[in-house]
Amino acid sequence: MSRAADIVARLRKLEGGGLRTFSEDPPFVWERAEGCYVEDADGWRYLDLYGGFAVAATGYSHPRVVEAIQRQATTLMHCPSAHPSRVRAEFYEALASIAPPGLDRFLPAVTGAMANEMALLLARTRRPDGAIVSFAGSYFGRSIGTAGFAGKARYRDALGIPAGGPFVPFPYPLRHGDAATDLTMRALEELTGPGKRPLAAVILEPIQGNGGVVIPPADFFPRLRTFCDRVGALLIVDEIQSGCGRTGRFWAIEHSGVTPDLMTVGKGIGGGLATAAVMGRAEAMTWPPDSYTSTFLVNNLNLAAAVAAMGVMRDEQLPGRAASIGPAGLARFKAALADVEGVREVRGQGLWYAAELADAAWAARAVKLARERGVIVGRSGYDDSVIKLSPALIIGEAELHTGIDAAAGAIRDSRGTAR
Ligand SMILES: Cc1ncc(COP(=O)(O)O)c(C=O)c1O
Repeated sequence: MSRAADIVARLRKLEGGGLRTFSEDPPFVWERAEGCYVEDADGWRYLDLYGGFAVAATGYSHPRVVEAIQRQATTLMHCPSAHPSRVRAEFYEALASIAPPGLDRFLPAVTGAMANEMALLLARTRRPDGAIVSFAGSYFGRSIGTAGFAGKARYRDALGIPAGGPFVPFPYPLRHGDAATDLTMRALEELTGPGKRPLAAVILEPIQGNGGVVIPPADFFPRLRTFCDRVGALLIVDEIQSGCGRTGRFWAIEHSGVTPDLMTVGKGIGGGLATAAVMGRAEAMTWPPDSYTSTFLVNNLNLAAAVAAMGVMRDEQLPGRAASIGPAGLARFKAALADVEGVREVRGQGLWYAAELADAAWAARAVKLARERGVIVGRSGYDDSVIKLSPALIIGEAELHTGIDAAAGAIRDSRGTAR
């Protein structure tokens, strides 16, 4: 039995159901990761174009992050949220150095779902009787406070959670054409008016990640901001997947010129450790003391890693890298798939690419074939038919192009071949 197979067998014996562990066949057993590469338990090395579900913004085990973790581990790891510490101050200062203008208050969180729950709780505190509006295709996490706002019904159904509020369509140009923004704005307007519940908040991603890199038209966010201001709803923007430089700016919302009331960040912000945060306008963050806590909220090891990771993002100008090398990669991906029948669209922004295919089974075959050829790509989308690339932002241009060629080749060669 291979080492990977042995590990899988041991997990199968003990793990409760419901995680994504066995959703790939064979399961991909990770052993180590560095930079843009992952090695499996049998010693095979892969170029990772998915970045561990868009976490590895600074690459795996960036030396500055590793050094910060080693130093912090011998100084202070656990620190209760009741007690201030230097690292927490540094964490807020680092967030302030990369936050969009206008967002100047911060709350720490451990996971993306937790950050979103905190943002939603802030909105509920402000308007307890208000509804929270979400969007088709959205993803905010799988906790009890976030799963109800998942745009995909199967995520809610799997956990027995009802819809948390009304849903409207996310403006999806491939599906809705030129009228995409109008369609969404009309649906929002229908939620308002005499006899309707007030709206406490509208929560959405600036570019949908789990939805399959769905990029709304440029007029959408300005119109949404105007709508939220008129009805008095908080605009909560989830940058957990789209942020940390991925789209060519630190935050995807910055391309629109709109400032949200609350913004959630996570994934890459921790440099590989579990850190997330809520950023906000001071007026939207007015909880009295002891409204919220959690034992590991300000774990200083995690925060030290995040401080180092944010330093890397700034010093290595990772948003600028995504802006400068991203477009050529997208052009290459588009050209490689231009004549492949059934590829509905190739789209992207910065170092974030998607190829929407005719069906989910093809996308699953493409992921598998890419892996057999040594490249990791992701699959998502409203119906799981989108191949998604979100490489580490430190990736070299030649590696990026090699990876894109391999991803496109796997898509092309898996078309119509049930494997
Ligand atoms: C946009 C978005 N929001 C929230 C989350 C949930 O974050 P976490 O898995 O850290 O709870 C994710 C995770 O994929 C995400 O992509």
